[in-house]
Amino acid sequence: MKNIFIIIGMGLIFNSTGDAATKALDGQTIFNKNCSACHSVNPPPKLAPPITPLASRYHLSFKTKKDGVNHLAAYLKLPKKEDSIDPQAITRFGLMPPVALSAAELNVVAAWVWDQYNPAMGMGRGFGGQGRGPSNP
Ligand code: HEC
Repeated sequence: MKNIFIIIGMGLIFNSTGDAATKALDGQTIFNKNCSACHSVNPPPKLAPPITPLASRYHLSFKTKKDGVNHLAAYLKLPKKEDSIDPQAITRFGLMPPVALSAAELNVVAAWVWDQYNPAMGMGRGFGGQGRGPSNP
């Protein structure tokens, strides 16, 4: 657990000293630096639900990318139980800590999450056997 916060801390330092504003923002890079300590992209989960099933939930919950990305960017800034699209994940993993990135970076990484939706994967699986699958006794 301690390591995670060190990694996040390093990410924050890097972001605040770097010339992030002048560089093209890339969702994958932001994710690798700020999110991947807790989130895998595909199952199995690390310390949080993997991104692809979260993206599926966002696609189910929001009609447009704009709405989904706005909601997610706000959630990343200040996670709240009542805003979660998957409150069960909070029960399992605990509430996500706020992400200290600029609004622009949050938007880029939120759009990247939205784009990880894989229609072939479907719903109902993919939360790493969150008490529903046969793989989880
Ligand atoms: C310290 C660990 C940690 C870090 C770092 C982290 N997350 Fe999370 N995240 C969680 C946990 C735990 C949950 C599940 C509980 C919840 O939803 O609050 C979660 C939930 C989410 C959700 C679901 C939100 C919802 O509406 O329910 C998304 C999407 C997400 N994270 C994306 C990200 C992105 C993108 C980043 C990087 C900018 C990130 N997370 C960084 C731990 C983390």
